[in-house]
Amino acid sequence: MRELFDFENTLEYAKSLDQKDNLSQFRDQFYLPTDKQGNTLIYFCGNSLGLQPRNVKDYVLQELKDWELLGVEGHVHARRPWMPYNELLTESMAKIVGALSEEVVVMNSLTVNLHLMMVSFYQPTEKRHKVLMEYHPFPSDRYAVESQIRFHGFDPQESLIELKPKQGTEYIEFTQIEDVLSTHGDEIAMVLIGNVNYYSGQAYSIKKITELAHNKGCMVGFDLAHGVGNLILNLHDAGPDFAVWCTYKYLNSGPGGMSGVFVHQRYADSSGLPRFNGWWGHNKEIRFQMGPNFKSLPGAEGWQLSNPPILPMAALRASLDLFDQAGMCALREKSERLTRFLEHLLVGEKQDQFRIITPANANERGCQLSIQVKGGDRRLFEKITRMGVIADWREPDVIRVAPVPLYNTFEEVWRFAKILKSCTSD
Ligand SMILES: Cc1ncc(COP(=O)(O)O)c(C=O)c1O
Repeated sequence: MRELFDFENTLEYAKSLDQKDNLSQFRDQFYLPTDKQGNTLIYFCGNSLGLQPRNVKDYVLQELKDWELLGVEGHVHARRPWMPYNELLTESMAKIVGALSEEVVVMNSLTVNLHLMMVSFYQPTEKRHKVLMEYHPFPSDRYAVESQIRFHGFDPQESLIELKPKQGTEYIEFTQIEDVLSTHGDEIAMVLIGNVNYYSGQAYSIKKITELAHNKGCMVGFDLAHGVGNLILNLHDAGPDFAVWCTYKYLNSGPGGMSGVFVHQRYADSSGLPRFNGWWGHNKEIRFQMGPNFKSLPGAEGWQLSNPPILPMAALRASLDLFDQAGMCALREKSERLTRFLEHLLVGEKQDQFRIITPANANERGCQLSIQVKGGDRRLFEKITRMGVIADWREPDVIRVAPVPLYNTFEEVWRFAKILKSCTSD
């Protein structure tokens, strides 16, 4: 049963919630997509690609200017020297994921980083070679895991375990994870979970899963693509071995933007782990002596391979500055209310045309709701698109919507619900 809250279903009420919203000023810091007539669209797709912060241009132009004026000298003499540029991102990023600075590095893209982490943390043996993943993992994660399994000479058919929900649901209960680990724990080398599943929107507890898996001697990693900038994460205390994420969703870094990596402090001196090396993971004090012997930087930075790409990092810095100002706690608090309001408008009034497959419990979801509409198909989705909604459709029958606390409003939630309902009552 979904708990009902004391919301009203009127435009005036939605506007009154916006008036009381302490974060409302952040909406003006973003470019909001419009239709051809200039009307602002309802953008509920921050779970796919976050909007462009207005300050991005200045941050990127600054680097272009320094490149124009300084050429190679920019590595050292740019206003923000490029050589240690990645360090400018670390503190804000660590705050967002609840980690120590030394546990976080921004580098590469998400799937690349997932592979790099598996090089270190997926070490299968004859007895212990399996990987446990959540139900319906994002395809790229599955492809990456399967290819790692094959790379080590095993067969994904045998070595990949995917959690399966009870029939007729999309939901994985914690007891199911306990059951799998108690039966197969000794055979599982690594647990890899998308902490918010991209399809159902279910959020898994990082701390509980980590404790459970560590007790069974498994390595544990999380893909935080749909959790970062969305949930309070506390990675250091929760204790997984690694985590990876992209920044182009809730962190608004732009298409194909940078990825982040967390490696727990217990591996700060990583000498015991296998790893692929590159010159940017080498001791920065002596990097330019260009010596033949690799000496790793301590902490997550030691996993770097290449010199940092300044332009996408500049774009990310612009957005992280907004997160520093807003703070994750305030964002999450607003986010819970936005999503609850949406849930209330869709299913809180004895309407049965919508089935929300995302858990009702706020601790088990982020801002996204995944909605199945009775009798609805892709045409319904196309119709709401024509009516000014940017959401997304996932085969076979799910509309995903993500009201984002940095730039979405309660009024938009109300308008969206009205549009969706009007399209289903035709
Ligand atoms: C959960 C998850 N994993 C992996 C990816 C792939 O990311 P990338 O293309 O940046 O490697 C995505 C992209 O949306 C994702 O949502």
